[in-house]
Amino acid sequence: PTTAQGGGTPPAGDDVIVLGEVGALTGGQATFGISSRNGIALALKEANAAGGVKGKKLVVRVYDDQSKPEEAAQAVTRLITQDKVVLILGEVASSSSLAMAEKAQAAGVPMITPSSTNPTVTEKGDNIFRVCFIDPFQGFVMAKFARENLKLNKVAVLQDNKSAYSIGLTEVFRQKFAEMGGKITVTESYSQGDTDYRAQLTAIKKTQPEGIYVPGYYSEVGVIARQARELGLKVPLMGGDGWDSEKLFELGGSAIDGSYFSNHYSPDNPDERVKKFIADYKADYNGAVPDALAALAYDAARVAIEALKNAPDTSGPALRAAIAKTKDFPGVAGNITLDEKRNAVKSAVVLKVADGKSTYVTTISP
Ligand code: PHE
Repeated sequence: PTTAQGGGTPPAGDDVIVLGEVGALTGGQATFGISSRNGIALALKEANAAGGVKGKKLVVRVYDDQSKPEEAAQAVTRLITQDKVVLILGEVASSSSLAMAEKAQAAGVPMITPSSTNPTVTEKGDNIFRVCFIDPFQGFVMAKFARENLKLNKVAVLQDNKSAYSIGLTEVFRQKFAEMGGKITVTESYSQGDTDYRAQLTAIKKTQPEGIYVPGYYSEVGVIARQARELGLKVPLMGGDGWDSEKLFELGGSAIDGSYFSNHYSPDNPDERVKKFIADYKADYNGAVPDALAALAYDAARVAIEALKNAPDTSGPALRAAIAKTKDFPGVAGNITLDEKRNAVKSAVVLKVADGKSTYVTTISP
């Protein structure tokens, strides 16, 4: 069952504006949902301290989808019919956002996903927005990095066939890497939640790749890294934003060292705006350094708040029109301008994993 989080949220009334949020607070993607919830809470706290919106306080109703798309869809129905939210923030995983977008679009309630990168999410309709780049770009970024920086010629791919994100990213990476003159030796698959990847890794090893692209989520990638090293596969692993979790280091240990992934943001960014966000976040969350999920969720909430301020009222059509006008919005994970397809066009960073942390390597622009 879906559970309401963040207890004590007052019901909809004349003095509050209620936003909805759906995230994975438990399950294999739990760090995604927790970071996102923290980022959104910080943005709301700041907006309320500055007087709220239209003389009202902002509150958020949060549901845990347990890392399951079906639960995410149900949570949206609840947020709309029961909690009467004006707008929905979430999800992180593209498969969950796709399930949510279906419901939000049908009800005419605007939804902003902070971090789902599969292109089909915003194609669900004109109420669905995102504040991050999309995977045709993200796949290009790692293909380019593999070819030009790592100088790899032969790469194998290991995809999660239960994730729209992983399937999409695999397709783009394969195509771009080949276009740049590289060779894909083999593409193997696993299903989210699997724990034994030895058969696929053995098949990959036989093709003698110089690197392995693993566009999955941290829960599986950490274990894959360990099993790859146990089987004597020593080449670098490469991945996408789905690697971004402190749990990756716990699960992968030193096996993940020397690997690379593309991401939306690096906490190493010396920008004043980013530094202030990191300091404020640390102050609220026991010194935790915000990851990309926290940064993008903070940005998504601020875009929503800005739209609430600019819209004549909080109806779906008014909010949708206001969000669509987002231009040069100063986010902590890059400036946000929404295009006609309701996507943000932004640069990506490549991070290197070593010694239990990820370090900034380079920025790649569209
Ligand atoms: N982009 C991933 C998806 O669409 C989600 C994600 C974003 C995970 C950022 C980690 C960091 O499924």
